[in-house]
Amino acid sequence: MILVTGGAGFIGANFVLDWLNQSDEAIINLDLLTYAGNLENIAGLAADARHTFVRGDIGDSALVTELFARFQPRAIINFAAESHVDRSIHSPEDFIQTNIVGTFRLLEAGRAYWNGLNGKAKQNFRFIHVSTDEVYGSLGKGEPAFDETHCYEPNSPYSASKAASDHLVRAYHHTYGLPVITTNCSNNYGPYQFPEKLVALMIVNALAGKPLPVYGDGQQIRDWLYVKDHCSAVRRVLEAGVPGETYNVGGRNEKPNIDIVHTVCTLLDALRPLIIGSYHALITFVTDRPGHDRRYAIDASKIERDLGWKPAETFETGIHKTVQWYLDNPAWVSNVQSGAYRTWLEKNYEGRS
Ligand code: NAD
Ligand code: TYD
Repeated sequence: MILVTGGAGFIGANFVLDWLNQSDEAIINLDLLTYAGNLENIAGLAADARHTFVRGDIGDSALVTELFARFQPRAIINFAAESHVDRSIHSPEDFIQTNIVGTFRLLEAGRAYWNGLNGKAKQNFRFIHVSTDEVYGSLGKGEPAFDETHCYEPNSPYSASKAASDHLVRAYHHTYGLPVITTNCSNNYGPYQFPEKLVALMIVNALAGKPLPVYGDGQQIRDWLYVKDHCSAVRRVLEAGVPGETYNVGGRNEKPNIDIVHTVCTLLDALRPLIIGSYHALITFVTDRPGHDRRYAIDASKIERDLGWKPAETFETGIHKTVQWYLDNPAWVSNVQSGAYRTWLEKNYEGRS
């Protein structure tokens, strides 16, 4: 079996669902259920004996040690993190605790477990750390996309905390020989994304007739990947990735934010037309995010060449599926907008002109 952390969040839940669709290998899913963790994402697995959910913190060494001892996983895949840049600007402390201290404790527990293994079990064990392209900092117009040798220049508390975790993971391979692999992926979108991130927020706000807040001039560029393609990359890395290596993951879909928002509006105009007018009219430019990175772009040649991975979706097919999923799941959309979510919206958006 494998141990997955953060498997009730956006990418982790997609990973767990896809895994169990394709394999009978069991999963232990360790998730703290922070605001971003949602058991509804994995409700379909409630009666599935292959899935064991454990509510807990990756930073709880005793718990993680016990899970390793009890379930003897052949690998751990670490998705658990505080993941939203705007929240890291308002409250960085949680990012330090989970992304740095939590990853450190997970590495320590993983190292102790791995040291106790023998033979093939020891040789085949993997610690996969799921990270982000944001650790590389911001690109200027025309600069080549990030490859794995790009220097680390994180600019937000989120990306700095992920960078610190990547460094720890690297050090545990270099110093102790722990068979780690880090993936650095570009921006994901798709089903079950919490509506604090751009694509999900725009869909949910548009359906509620609320303004679509575009930061600054909307010309910041992100490199978009459909979440299930990220999941297939992580599966491929677990299967064939080389310990100690890092792999950049992306779909060569660089787009300015404003184009993303227009695409969402155009799709909604077609799939759920308003009686009068268009969703485009809801677009509102608001005060920029402090320290806003201008451009991210991933060079995914290494994973394509060495592991034969490539995305299944284009941006057009992926964004269509995503908008359709939000339209098909009104109960999920409504339940996710709790009181805490509304408090977050007030905190992040009410002060912006
Ligand atoms: P998310 O915020 O949707 O989910 C994070 C999950 O981790 C939640 O279920 C939460 O409850 C859980 N969690 C948080 N703190 C925890 C702790 N201390 N112990 C156990 N569980 C905890 O995040 P996501 O978008 O699914 O991202 C998953 C991973 O992928 C993160 O490591 C993130 O940095 C990375 N990543 C995300 C993107 C993206 O576009 N979303 C892109 C590249 C990499
Ligand atoms: P986000 O989804 O938060 O991901 P990240 O900051 O990790 O790239 O934001 C994606 C881009 O969209 C980023 O440039 C910020 C911008 N953005 C907005 O313009 N408005 C919003 O309300 C949000 C949440 C993001």
